[in-house]
Amino acid sequence: MTKIATLAGIALLAGQALAAAPNVTVIPLGSSDCRKWPGHIYQGPGVDMTGYMQFEAVDVDDVGLNTLYTSFTSMPWAGSTREVMTLDLRRSRAIAKPYYRCINGELRYLSNDPLRVAKDVRNGFVTKETVGYKLEPYAHEIDGVRQPGVFLGALNQTTWGFFWRSASCSTTGAKNDYYEVKLQNLPVDPDTEPRAGYDPINFGFLKVINW
Ligand SMILES: *[C@@H]1O[C@H](CO)[C@@H](O)[C@H](O)[C@H]1NC(C)=O
Ligand SMILES: *[C@@H]1O[C@H](CO)[C@@H](O)[C@H](O)[C@H]1NC(C)=O
Repeated sequence: MTKIATLAGIALLAGQALAAAPNVTVIPLGSSDCRKWPGHIYQGPGVDMTGYMQFEAVDVDDVGLNTLYTSFTSMPWAGSTREVMTLDLRRSRAIAKPYYRCINGELRYLSNDPLRVAKDVRNGFVTKETVGYKLEPYAHEIDGVRQPGVFLGALNQTTWGFFWRSASCSTTGAKNDYYEVKLQNLPVDPDTEPRAGYDPINFGFLKVINW
């Protein structure tokens, strides 16, 4: 009995230590066009785009994740294999690529179709699929003080959860370890069944940077 209580106590302490992304106020910058993303290029009427951008993990409670960049990885999810945005543990620019641009108000993979956040409340992955929440640029304030930088989010949520996946356990042939990346605090969408998934262990933000 004593032993069980002690273990429960340890689990509770661990839980408290984990949910440690800073408490920020999230301010939507506006996404009807691309002007609020870093690196906007204004060339005249009818031209609305940015240069290339990447997302950098910042303020993560496990500091070893800070400064990592995003990539795309095929992974099994919701009954099929899908490509979703992940964190790449290899930070070299020879490997991390400038994946993103905003064109005509939509954040895109390269210059292609708009990216979306899956509406699955437990699996808010960034996907190349056409259904989901629009990705938008946000500012952060702490105690009324604007923080430097632009942050990636959707629906006024900018906290992302991270979960380590080992390549040695991959069923899709992933050659490298990676971190799953899921947007947190999404509302339950009545039309989207929440699927099983790993609950993130670490939490932080994705800062939008020019490349
Ligand atoms: C986070 O900040 C908001 C506004 O500044 C405050 O109302 C809230 O109590 C804070 N939450 C925590 C967990 O500190
Ligand atoms: C996001 O926050 C703004 C105010 O800061 C509010 O006007 C807007 O309705 C919010 N959007 C959502 C989806 O909650």
